Amino acid sequence: MQKKPRCIIASVMVSLFILAAVRAQDEMMVVNDPAFKDLRRPPAVFRHDEHNETAQIEDCNECHHVYDEAGQLVEDESSEDQRCSDCHELQASGDKPALMKAFHLNCKGCHQEKKKGPVMCGQCHVRGFAWAE
Ligand code: HEC
Ligand code: HEC
Ligand code: HEC
Ligand code: HEC
Repeated sequence: MQKKPRCIIASVMVSLFILAAVRAQDEMMVVNDPAFKDLRRPPAVFRHDEHNETAQIEDCNECHHVYDEAGQLVEDESSEDQRCSDCHELQASGDKPALMKAFHLNCKGCHQEKKKGPVMCGQCHVRGFAWAE
């Protein structure tokens, strides 16, 4: 009878793993960039596809941008295969804002400009928001 509990634990772990893998394919619900260690705030609510549809943002590179060496925005290229943190480090470097600032400038910046979308800390960093990842 010694082996049975282990068997059950093992199969529960396998199911959880499969569940996690299936969920990971679902739409992104929050921004949770792994470059931030020990989050001070809950991850920011961001239902990627739904957000961009409602906000009527046509170009992926509105957020997933590419700059050339001279610091000029490259119009018809995008960096959606990269995380913001692949380029933006925790500290600013040159004209490149630090990671947290990059998010705040991008997200809040547009909301302020459009006078639509949340601008208060707790509206983006929502406590207790259930997200699957
Ligand atoms: C309003 C800003 C914004 C727009 C517009 C946008 N994205 Fe994103 N996208 C993000 C952010 C933020 C992340 C998370 C990046 C990170 O974790 O560093 C992300 C992540 C992704 C990812 C990887 C994460 C995943 O599992 O989904 C893909 C792929 C992606 N975006 C594709 C696209 C494509 C394709 C478009 C255009 C149709 C697009 N994005 C438009 C902000 C945006
Ligand atoms: C391929 C590298 C790269 C990726 C990926 C990237 N950035 Fe940037 N970003 C840069 C560079 C380089 C600059 C500085 C441009 C300059 O010289 O002014 C910049 C500037 C910015 C700025 C300030 C200028 C502006 O456009 O408003 C913001 C905000 C910003 N990035 C947000 C983001 C966010 C949010 C993401 C992820 C969705 C992201 N960046 C992904 C390279 C990148
Ligand atoms: C280019 C403009 C733009 C950018 C960039 C942008 N947003 Fe928005 N966002 C909007 C607009 C416009 C709305 C209002 C949409 C509506 O309800 O009409 C909105 C609404 C929202 C909402 C409330 C509605 C919802 O989808 O839950 C949240 C949360 C939000 N944005 C989060 C973010 C985050 C987080 C980022 C950065 C990763 C971001 N936004 C970047 C334009 C933008
Ligand atoms: C429009 C949405 C939005 C608003 C408003 C906003 N943030 Fe953020 N913030 C973000 C996003 C997106 C990130 C990246 C989240 C991640 O990857 O976990 C972020 C990251 C952070 C981080 C770094 C990650 C962490 O938890 O340590 C801190 C700290 C933070 N925000 C604090 C604040 C504070 C304080 C305010 C109000 C003054 C605020 N934010 C307002 C969207 C927002």
